[in-house]
Amino acid sequence: MTTSTADRPLRVIQWTTGNIGKRSLHAILARPDLELVGVYAHGANKVGVDAADLCDWPEPTGITATDDIDAVVALAPDACCYNPLWPDIDALETLLSAGINVVSSAAWITGGKQTEADQQRIAEACRRGRSTMFGSGAHPGITNMVAMVLSGACERVDEIRITESVDCSTYESAETQSAMGFGKSPDTEGLAESVRVESEVFAESAAMMADAIGATLDRITFDVTFTAATDDSDLGFMRIPKGTVAGVFGYHSGWVGDRNVVSVGFNWTMGHHVVPPKPLRHGHVIQVFGRPNMRTVLHCLPPADWDEEGFMGAGMIYTAMPVTNAVPAVVAAVPGVVTLKDLPVVAGRHFPR
Ligand SMILES: NC(=O)c1ccc[n+]([C@@H]2O[C@H](COP(=O)([O-])OP(=O)(O)OC[C@H]3O[C@@H](n4cnc5c(N)ncnc54)[C@H](OP(=O)(O)O)[C@@H]3O)[C@@H](O)[C@H]2O)c1
Repeated sequence: MTTSTADRPLRVIQWTTGNIGKRSLHAILARPDLELVGVYAHGANKVGVDAADLCDWPEPTGITATDDIDAVVALAPDACCYNPLWPDIDALETLLSAGINVVSSAAWITGGKQTEADQQRIAEACRRGRSTMFGSGAHPGITNMVAMVLSGACERVDEIRITESVDCSTYESAETQSAMGFGKSPDTEGLAESVRVESEVFAESAAMMADAIGATLDRITFDVTFTAATDDSDLGFMRIPKGTVAGVFGYHSGWVGDRNVVSVGFNWTMGHHVVPPKPLRHGHVIQVFGRPNMRTVLHCLPPADWDEEGFMGAGMIYTAMPVTNAVPAVVAAVPGVVTLKDLPVVAGRHFPR
């Protein structure tokens, strides 16, 4: 189904409409070069509902959500914007082997955290369908891209270090937050290992950057520090009781011998009663150490005409767009798994408002 982007709008389906998926849906509906042809819903309450109602779009779209994967495959879309809570290898295999290119925000950069067998299934599905699998987001995603670009200013790169340094209290995804340890006892057995596994997509992004700078890693390690809340916080969508995890500070680090060459991590807090090990920078801190050192902090800020309560929506757009904006490049890409370092620049789109 791979096609040139010039002759017609690309036919796109939206896979789920949670925090990120809603923002993706907006962009598909707004971009003149993309055409929404279907929506897949996980939640039964969303089946049969017009896409406009699922993402607060002003006019009906005539496209209603289905939970039938065969029905969305039958639409013969060029691409699927894939934003579920967790990736599902069976679904990805079905989409890719039907020739549908997939752009994902759901725990996918290289696919390296998947089992060998599942990676094989995805590679084989791409081969059968002549389709492409791609993952991005804000972090991991655009932060890695910025770091790789910055490294291009260096005569020699010793280390790339990226830290997401934010208060996550208004990111309303209780499942995601509790998977990262929030609200659990810091003494929970195996907590560090389960957070490592849940956040392993950051290790995938570290491996991608190592590859980009020509470093052959011999191992990737994970270290994490949990900080307990000093009092109760009720965030509405979840509670962070006193004494439970309210700060998670950790890195997935790639090594060449005793040299830490790439680190991708987070300094996250939740709730009103926590002092993290390092002060929050309210953005993505991107550091490239070498000759010379390069450093920047990405801040995602609401525009002057921002009309939503709170600013978390801006962060959701920041997460969704590196994925959705990649549709034309991914449709045009070679079959197989591609990463940010393989694609041309994924730019946003200017069009009349
Ligand atoms: N790289 C990044 O920067 C970044 C940042 C944030 C999040 N993410 C990732 O992006 C993805 C979406 O995040 P989100 O905040 O949008 O998540 P979310 O709103 O919590 O959930 C997304 C959708 O997943 C579906 N869902 C709910 N329970 C499910 C289950 N048990 N199994 C499968 N699907 C289920 C629902 O679909 P329906 O709407 O159809 O019911 C829900 O709307 C996640 O994988 C998240 O980790 C990436």
